[in-house]
Order: sequence, then C-alpha cells, then structure tokens
Amino acid sequence: MKIDISTLTLEEKLRLLTGKDAWRTYDANGKISSVFVSDGPHGLRKVADNGETVKATAMPNLSTVANGWSREAAYLDGRTIADECIKNDVDVILAPGVNIKRTPLCGRNFEYLSEDPFLAGTLAKEYIAGVQSKGVGTSLKHFCANNCEEDRLSKTSEIDERTLKEIYLTAFEIALSSKPWTVMCAYNLINGVYASENKYLLKDILRDEFGFDGVVVSDWGAVQSGFRRMRAGLDLEMPFRDHSYDDLKKAYDKGLIDDEMINTSVEHILKLVEKAKNAKKKVEFTDEERHENAVKIAEEGIVLLKNDDGILPLNPGTLNGGAGLSGNVAVERLEQITTAGGVLIIGDKSVNPPLGGGGSAYVETAFKQRDLKSLLKDKMSELQVEYCNRSVMSPYASKETYVRAKKASAVIVCVGNDRSVETEGRDRASIKLHADEEKAINRLATINENVIVVVYAGSAIDVSGWIDSAKAVVWAGFSGEGVNEALADILTGKVCPSGKLAETLPTSLEDTYCGSSLGSPFVERYDDGIFVGYRYYDAADKEVAFPFGFGLSYAEFEYSDLAIEKKGELDYAVSFNVKNVSGVDGKEVSQVYVKDVFATVARPEKELKGFSKDLVKSGETVRVTVPLNARSFAYYNTAMKKWMVENGEFEILVCSSSREVRLKASIFIDLPEETQQSVYYLD
Ligand code: BGC
Repeated sequence: MKIDISTLTLEEKLRLLTGKDAWRTYDANGKISSVFVSDGPHGLRKVADNGETVKATAMPNLSTVANGWSREAAYLDGRTIADECIKNDVDVILAPGVNIKRTPLCGRNFEYLSEDPFLAGTLAKEYIAGVQSKGVGTSLKHFCANNCEEDRLSKTSEIDERTLKEIYLTAFEIALSSKPWTVMCAYNLINGVYASENKYLLKDILRDEFGFDGVVVSDWGAVQSGFRRMRAGLDLEMPFRDHSYDDLKKAYDKGLIDDEMINTSVEHILKLVEKAKNAKKKVEFTDEERHENAVKIAEEGIVLLKNDDGILPLNPGTLNGGAGLSGNVAVERLEQITTAGGVLIIGDKSVNPPLGGGGSAYVETAFKQRDLKSLLKDKMSELQVEYCNRSVMSPYASKETYVRAKKASAVIVCVGNDRSVETEGRDRASIKLHADEEKAINRLATINENVIVVVYAGSAIDVSGWIDSAKAVVWAGFSGEGVNEALADILTGKVCPSGKLAETLPTSLEDTYCGSSLGSPFVERYDDGIFVGYRYYDAADKEVAFPFGFGLSYAEFEYSDLAIEKKGELDYAVSFNVKNVSGVDGKEVSQVYVKDVFATVARPEKELKGFSKDLVKSGETVRVTVPLNARSFAYYNTAMKKWMVENGEFEILVCSSSREVRLKASIFIDLPEETQQSVYYLD
C-alpha cells in the first residue's frame, strides 16, 4: 500500500529528499522501503555494502550499441541488464546517457550514443523500454548539455535556445517517450545556472513541456544549494551528505522552501518507491545467455571501415601456405621461426581486449577473456593462425617479429584505447592512436601488404597517419566481454558486419569544430549552434575520414523504387526496396535524411529523421518503410517560441551513409497561410 504523505513528519519528508547512503533512498527506520540504485549503463555496477563491486556481464558500451543502429539490440541490451539488476536487488539502473557527442575529445563519449539526437534518442528509448519491461527503473542522464568532462562541476555550457531545443534536448525528448522512472541532472551549468538548479530546464521543459512525471535525481554530488534545487524542482539529492538535511531544514524555517514544494517532490519519490516495490520482476536469461546477448549486440555494432580487395572475411584457401611480400628485411632463421603463410595476430589487445571506458560506467566481469587467436581457430579450424607475443608496438620490436610478419600472408594488428585513455572526469588531449601503434602499422605495411587493423575504442580516432597502410580496418569499439567472439565471427565471415558509425571519424582534430573562448576561457560557448557532427562537416564542406552512418558489409545492396505516400497533413511513409545483390546474407542500415531546400533560417544540409536495419538474404529484396512526421520537417523558431514547418520543397534522401545518397525525391509542403510567417524578398 502506498505510504500516505500525511503520515510523514516534516523531518521524514526532508530526509526523503536526500539519500540514505551512496545508493539507497531514505527509509524512515523501515517505514518506507528504500529504492536501491546502481550504475549503468554497460551492465550492472553494483557497489555492495562491503564496498566490493559485484561481478556482472560487461555489455557493449553505448557507443557500440549506437553503431549497431538496431532498435532490437538496444531493447535486448536493456532486458539483459535488467535481469542482472533483479538478481542483485537493484531497483533502478543509472542509465542510459544521451548527451550529444559534440567533440571527439569528450572523455565520456564511449558512454553516449551519437552526435545525432534522433539516433541517440531512438536507441535510448528502446534501451529504457527493455529495462523497464522487466520491472526495473532507469535514469535518463545527464540532463543536459554535459558534453565534456574537464571542469564539469564548474563549467557553463552557453547555448542558444534553438540549438538547445533542436540538438541537446531532442535526444532526451525522444527517449522520454519510454517513460524512464527517473531523470538525472548534469553536473555543469547551462547558461550560467547549474543543471541541478535550472528551473527553466527542470520545470518548464522537462515537466511542463515534455510531461515527465517521475523523479528528478541529482548526479552524484551535483547539488550546490539545497533550497535552490528544491525551487527548481529537483526531487532527490544523491548520495547522502551530512549537511543536506540541515540545509533543507534551515531553508524551510526561513521560508525559502514551502510545504507545497516539499510535498510535490516527496510524492514523486513515494511513487517511485511504490513502482519499485510492486514491479513484477522475473529473471529471463541464464548467465550464459546474458553473455551470448553481449556477443550478439557487439556483432551488431562492430563496423567494417575498409576492406580492400575483399581481404575479409579471412579465407584459408588464399591465406594458408602462401608467403607475404618479399621485402628488405633480413630473413635469417626464417625457416626455424615459422611456417610460411597464414595469419599472424599482433598486439596484446587481442589477448586482453579493452572492454569499455573508465569511470562509473565500467563493469567488472567474471568472464575470462578468450584471445582472438584461439577464437579464430575455433571458428575456422583450417586457418593457419599464430600470435606474436612480442609487442610489435614497442620501438624495440624484435627482428623476429618482423620476420614472422613478413612470412605471414596477412597480419592482424590490434590497437586502440583503453579505460585509462577514455574515461569519465577527463577529456582526451588527442584523438590519435598511440604513436607506437601508428608506427607499427606503417612499418608492418612495408613488409606485408595485407595488414588488417582492429581498433578497440569508444570514440572517434584520427586514422590519417596510418589508414593508407591498412588493407582492412575493423572498428571493434568498446564492445564488452563478448568483443573477441564477435570479432572472430566477423573476421571469419560467420557473421556479416552490419554496424555503421554513429559518430563521424574526422580527418583530424583540427578539422573538428574546436569552439572559441571569446569572452571567457571558463565558458563553453556552443557557437557551432545546430551544426554538430555531420551537420558541421556538411555545412563547412569538409572532407571526413569516415562519415556518420558509414559501414561496409560482405554483402552488397542496391536501393530502388522510392515512393513517398502522404498519410496526414505532415505525416508521410517513405518506402523503398533494398536488394541484396551478393552471395552473402546481410543486414543493411538504411537512413532517411530530410533537407529543407530553401529555408528562411540557417538549416543543416540534411538531418537524419528515420532509419531501418533489415536482414536481406542473398538475392532477395526487402521493402523498407520509414515514417516521417511534423518534427521531421520542423525547426525551432525562437521568435514564435514554437516548432515551425515552413512551406516549400523538402528533399527526402535515402542514404547508405550521410555522404552516400542512394535515392532522392522531393515533396512540397503547403500548409494554410495562418501557420506561416510572412517573408518578403527584394528582387
Ligand atoms: C556520474 C553518473 C553516475 C554517478 C553514480 C557520477 O559521477 O556522472 O553518471 O551515475 O556518478 O556513480
């Protein structure tokens, strides 16, 4: 039965508005049940009462989930993680994060979904629905505009209203349609006011405009002022802090907060307590099945970036026995060292792959990693494969390493970042690989023409220093404990790669939008406006290394027969055929972008407004349908304070990546005059 608020004393109510400890809500000596929360988002990170972190399935990082572009995989991710929460008595998982990847330097990009709000919001919505379908709550975070880690507690994100609405809030708005039980505020300030005290964001937008009726919780330690956060509508301060109750009591006595404010927040928390208590929870997956789900989701999100001469999937027929390039390395002792041909795996990341980025999102797994070599052997017993245990990444790599690399038919080099490079609380200083890794790839390419590079990383990398040396590149991402199994399936062709980048890989850091500190070095001015990610590279007409939405496949797809059916005043169904013209079954991510051909405000070249991921068997055709609605055409008009669709021509672009338009058609929107502005142009 729900606790009647009138049975609570003022002290109990005020204590309920602050935590009981690091992870529990206040229980009034057993009168109210506590809600237990834990991180998220890449599996469960429960800190037990003895201070130890419970072991759990390390799921792919959200960056990999996003590269999967699969609603089903995001939903499965949520269901899998919820099971582990149920088993460990956790009521709410502090996830997912939908902050936009504004710069590749943000230390926490691995934990976020995309540079595009539609993609980020849509996948977060599925993740939330997956978790909550099992009776476990979520915490959509970090609300909002937390797009870098450096000085996150003191930096203000200075953003104009249109940009806030179109880019940074849209991802939250979409995800909120799955009704997360809680929303977590960010650490930073937005336009000079802390996220935890920002009435405009927490009340006017989150509650009144987006209709959120759950609990707003602070990020851990994000509350600066007890009364200001109450007045702004932040319900629950976490974790417990000695002074928090006294602060609230003093504020109450001074009349800075009143009973109505307190009761509103208490009611939100009591509703959460009820939800957690009454939820029907049932574990669905065994330990093994959760691991298998981690592998499946990783397989969706691994991206094949380059595959010259179709060197992948590995083919024992051509790789075994044959020798690599003859080169200029001395080859004494060659015969004793190794047999000729086959595949040589280099780099200890193939044995201990980085599973994810660092900080609160890091999941401790009990799963013992398997090395890539033995997995390749399992999947393809006839393939000759060796591992070189001497690190070629070191400038002192032995001659033996190079001799072995020279004799192999192909070399797989495993490089990338780990959680010491990509982590919460710090931004990266560079987006390049470690110089030794770049050097190793380039050196190997001088003695073996078949260098296959596997990159483990959670955010964009500048590949310009070595990309020409690689015959193939597989973006393994930060893909959790199933990463090497998923990689082995993809490298051997047991699984056809189907991931596509949810984040542009720029040609260099200098080519990204680096911002300006005009006015103050302590302020993060979002003067790139709505031109974030591909919207920026398109508008600035910049080359990129690999565009947003890009990913190769072993299959080949043809697009045809575009039809756009009007379903309502601003509702359309965009349909087209995707035909698999190869001999391999595969999944294709097709993307629908919209371009306002002639607008009275600055608009991006194109914006993602729909996508679909479909299995298309060899020789078969799938008819794909993607819906569009009013928001697909709208921009936020700050003079009128509303979303606005301007009459005129809109191009509908069906693409295989943001830079590869496969089909295109125009529609003409002709709304009644009263919805339009009057704009006159001089001849
Ligand atoms: C992070 C949150 C996390 C919380 C609890 C904070 O430092 O920003 O994302 O949920 O800690 O661990």
